Amino acid sequence: MTRDDVIIRLVDVYKAFEGLQVLRGVNLEIRRGQTTVVIGPSGCGKSVLLKHIVGLLRPDRGDVYFRHHRISALSENALVKVRRRMGFLFQGGALFDSMTVEQNIIFPLAEHRIGSGDQQVQRCREVLSLVGLDGLQGRFPEELSGGQKKRVALARAIAMAPELILYDEPTTGLDPIRADLINELILKLQQTLGTTALVVTHDMASARKVGDRIVMLHEGKFIIDATPDELDRADNEVVSRFVEGRASPQELAELQHGQFSAWSNGR
Ligand SMILES: Nc1ncnc2c1ncn2[C@@H]1O[C@H](COP(=O)(O)OP(=O)(O)OP(=O)(O)O)[C@@H](O)[C@H]1O
Ligand SMILES: [Mg+2]
Repeated sequence: MTRDDVIIRLVDVYKAFEGLQVLRGVNLEIRRGQTTVVIGPSGCGKSVLLKHIVGLLRPDRGDVYFRHHRISALSENALVKVRRRMGFLFQGGALFDSMTVEQNIIFPLAEHRIGSGDQQVQRCREVLSLVGLDGLQGRFPEELSGGQKKRVALARAIAMAPELILYDEPTTGLDPIRADLINELILKLQQTLGTTALVVTHDMASARKVGDRIVMLHEGKFIIDATPDELDRADNEVVSRFVEGRASPQELAELQHGQFSAWSNGR
């Protein structure tokens, strides 16, 4: 493997918020054409990690690189240029409420002056077809279901045909068939355009399906880096519990001695 194969590199990244140490020495290399899946419990810092890659957050210590660009040190102007090569699906979808579906999707194309007006409209139609929503161009976000909003946000992320796409929980809140179609779309983009992807998910079926490798964030660091097959054989209790969805005895004990018994005491 040459240096050029590494698209994203995180080197010993630390990040804290008001005393809460979220990232504690994160190291990760993402290779071109691969889909890397990040798993880990709610609140462990997965979205924070993605925000470092697009430069929305800067590390307290350590470095983040996108190819040879040191993201953690770029000015806002330089960041705008680099971000053009990345697609980012935010966890909440984050559509502009005052814009139609079409305006939402065209917005980044217009901002970066990609294509003529007609070409942008055509591109919008193509990406909406990919996510099964062609025809909804004129709707406003409030007229869409949660899953539809998510798919519009996904269409917007892929409209620029970026070389790297970051997906923050792309299948959460979708029905199982839609979720599988999104998985297929992620695979298709990888196979046809060679897109590199980083996918954050709690959905293990999705993780196995799209992931070339799966990494797990725990207490601020990656504790495993494995293929889906290797993950099943992992000799690590924390990883196995998460993958199989089993709470630890300690977590169960907290539930029993916690608020639930306090409520029933009063009856
Ligand atoms: N801008 C911020 N200011 C203060 N605290 C933050 C900020 N962003 C994230 N945090 C905190 O950092 C921790 C990690 O948040 P993050 O959103 O990365 O979790 P996550 O792993 O994505 O969780 P989930 O699976 O629920 O989406 C949380 O405790 C969160 O409250
Ligand atoms: Mg998150």
